[in-house]
Amino acid sequence: NADTTLRDGTRISDLINHETREVKVRTLSDPELYELEMERIFGKTWIFLGHDTEIPNKGDFITRDMGSDAVIVARDREGEIHVSLNVCPHRAMKVQTHDAGNTNVHMCIYHGWAFKPNGDFIGAPVEKECMHGHMTPKDQLGLKKARVALYGGLIFATWSIDGPSLEEFFGDAKYYFDTLFLRTGGGLEVLGPPQRFRINANWKTACEQSAADGFHTLTLHRWLAEVGPYAKKPDAEGKGADLSPEMYGCEVWTDQGHALRCIDLDRKIVRLTGKNPAELSVIEKLKALPPPGITPEMVPELLERFDDGQLKLMSWRPPQVGGFFPNGLFEFIYLPQPDGTVVGACALHAYIPKGPGQLEFMNWIFAEKDTPPELKARMLRQSVQMLGTSGMVEMEDSDTWPHQTEVAKGAMAKTITLKYQAKFEQGAPEGWPGPGHVGDGFTKDDTQWAWWNAWHELMTSDK
Ligand code: FES
Ligand code: FE
Repeated sequence: NADTTLRDGTRISDLINHETREVKVRTLSDPELYELEMERIFGKTWIFLGHDTEIPNKGDFITRDMGSDAVIVARDREGEIHVSLNVCPHRAMKVQTHDAGNTNVHMCIYHGWAFKPNGDFIGAPVEKECMHGHMTPKDQLGLKKARVALYGGLIFATWSIDGPSLEEFFGDAKYYFDTLFLRTGGGLEVLGPPQRFRINANWKTACEQSAADGFHTLTLHRWLAEVGPYAKKPDAEGKGADLSPEMYGCEVWTDQGHALRCIDLDRKIVRLTGKNPAELSVIEKLKALPPPGITPEMVPELLERFDDGQLKLMSWRPPQVGGFFPNGLFEFIYLPQPDGTVVGACALHAYIPKGPGQLEFMNWIFAEKDTPPELKARMLRQSVQMLGTSGMVEMEDSDTWPHQTEVAKGAMAKTITLKYQAKFEQGAPEGWPGPGHVGDGFTKDDTQWAWWNAWHELMTSDK
């Protein structure tokens, strides 16, 4: 057990109260905790870095971050993807200074040491002189290598060489992730390079929200119902703006801190078809309202790839928002259009820690490779407008996180708590096909509470 005592005598486990489901506000700003998080969370778990369609060709590379560590993600001559620490083993220069490019030789500009896409040392200029009497064997002069796993083209890496596999890390969430990331044989494709934006906020403000916080939608994103895609004409009592019907469905959380909000599609199906969803077959529902990026013509492929349970989920309560612990968020959203149709938006975010008071917001926009080009273009536009770094929804979130981070530094503020006490009273509804902890009904805090439990678990474990 590594339940470290912080400089002021507080133990990490004192920051979280499992009985009352509260977390001390100081966790959102504490620099000492931040350093520990980089080692105990980002130094250990699987971290999402990008998508293999960002580096389609041999020699392609991108530079990314695993917590506080810069890494090179590169495809070698055999087509395999590697992740290596972007720090020169000679004198710690950043080896690859570009965001992206293509090369089979990553040469450090300082003294010229050169490395393969897999991180192996190739050689150095005037090597005989430079290596004269060297102590370290050449095969140990490569870049430090991370362990890599691909899932539906998503690139994950970890420094934990013999820890859990990516599949074990996903745990019960994999059943649901498959319905988002493994839908077609062609696979997903990133539409353009990711957007990047710096925000003066602690990474956890964005990430605990990403663990499927539903409640903030009702207030912070209220315009969605007032003038946005969910707006409707005021009823007899003058009530029009109400997002609460969107808050029903199932939420799923796992012991690893992953979270999913599976939002009920039935109302949208009624609106689109005028039929009672209970009278439609799974195939009819999927064709009436296919998942984002899928057309009715592509539905037969889904039938081949998924079991009955997963198909039922996709046609009834598909995961629409959720997070992978520690710092990833995905959105596969069905956005109502003024003409009564629905267009999907698919985005993936990562919130990269850049010190206790700053994060980098990265946003990737996706479609299936097989999504028809006109639909891809509409999805790209929608996703940028709503879910991009300057998107109408994300701008609002990005505005709350710096305020939280700032006020959390207060001497008094540090002593009060964040509260996660809204708890599902109903478990999985009858006929729910998937595994994991499941709650049914109006959105609750359980998913975010699971996120904090996973945080606590890693922060106090010496494994
Ligand atoms: Fe890279 Fe010297 S620091 S070659
Ligand atoms: Fe939000």
